[in-house]
Amino acid sequence: ETAPLIDPFARPITYLRVSVTDRCDFRCSYCMAEHMQFLPKKELLTLEELDRLCSGFIGLGVRKLRVTGGEPLVRRGILGFFTAMARHLETGALDELTLTTNGSQLARFADDLAALGVRRVNVSLDTLDATKFAEITRWGRLAPVLEGIRAATRAGMRVKINTVALKGFNEDELFALVDWCGAEGHDLTFIEVMPMGEMGEEQRLEQYWPLTDLRARLAERFTVSETGERSGGPARYVRLTETGQRIGFITPLSHNFCESCNRVRVTCTGELFMCLGQEDSADLRAPLRACPDEDAPLVAAIRAAIGRKPKGHDFDYSRAHVSGQMSRHMSHTGG
Ligand code: GTP
Ligand code: 5AD
Ligand code: SF4
Repeated sequence: ETAPLIDPFARPITYLRVSVTDRCDFRCSYCMAEHMQFLPKKELLTLEELDRLCSGFIGLGVRKLRVTGGEPLVRRGILGFFTAMARHLETGALDELTLTTNGSQLARFADDLAALGVRRVNVSLDTLDATKFAEITRWGRLAPVLEGIRAATRAGMRVKINTVALKGFNEDELFALVDWCGAEGHDLTFIEVMPMGEMGEEQRLEQYWPLTDLRARLAERFTVSETGERSGGPARYVRLTETGQRIGFITPLSHNFCESCNRVRVTCTGELFMCLGQEDSADLRAPLRACPDEDAPLVAAIRAAIGRKPKGHDFDYSRAHVSGQMSRHMSHTGG
């Protein structure tokens, strides 16, 4: 009953990413379509159901919970959910409760999140230029995001900036981003853009900036040394000798990290995705709703699903083709 979750490739599953809403106040072009059809409210798990679901996973050995979306902080009542999850920090069942956010609402929530035991927050930020920011997010404003980041830092949380590397978009800001994060004391991680959503092949290839190239650019100005560090996520870290800064690389395309995968993700409708880069999913809402006072069917459904976690994704951009592309939007599973 309480045996830990181990997948068919002997990988222990200790990290759950839970998307609490499909909605977002931005529309980053690599993440969402401009006109998204959002889910009707009755499809969504209630916050109580999300609590039961996540607590079920924690009972099965999940030690790290990351709240995502869409934009998690636009979900009504979200602090109540964080409050509920914080009890697992208190009992020691959970090592880390955290979130990935676009930062737009962070100024409002930072103090409460910190008080609940959130020690780190990942903020998506692809540019420091307000005009380009409005372009990539389709209408987002940069200033409130920067304000949110400042508020999080003031509240005592560590901030990690996530930047999707986009050729022709933020190539020219590489050093500006590195310098800014260095000055502000934030960790910085670059991410290779994954082929999700309905963008065409040509556009995909056009925007793909391999992190091997980015790293070579960094090496023009800094001494870049391998650290071998991992933070329980997919990032690999290097250190810049001159500034001591740590830079993360998430390279699903140029250097696949699936062999050390430790996570699954559940959507706001209770759909469990065993891999970000595969279509297979399991419905956890049905067992949740069928048995409101009994977790055994939920636990059985989770175990069965973990038993079919695939080896890895099939994303590939080589030979001028994109394969493994998925029509599902990244916002559906929260990255
Ligand atoms: P920490 O290491 O705890 O900071 O978190 P993280 O890097 O796992 O979380 P974050 O939300 O910052 O993830 C950054 C991005 O990495 C995600 O939005 C995805 O784009 C990508 N990513 C995370 N997990 C996976 C994964 O399992 N497979 C692939 N292909 N990409 C992933
Ligand atoms: N490829 C890589 N990362 C993506 N994200 C969203 N869409 C993509 C994509 N197609 C990232 C965001 C954010 C996280 C939630 O997912 O930039 O950091
Ligand atoms: Fe919203 Fe984040 Fe997707 Fe951008 S990447 S549209 S901020 S969920």
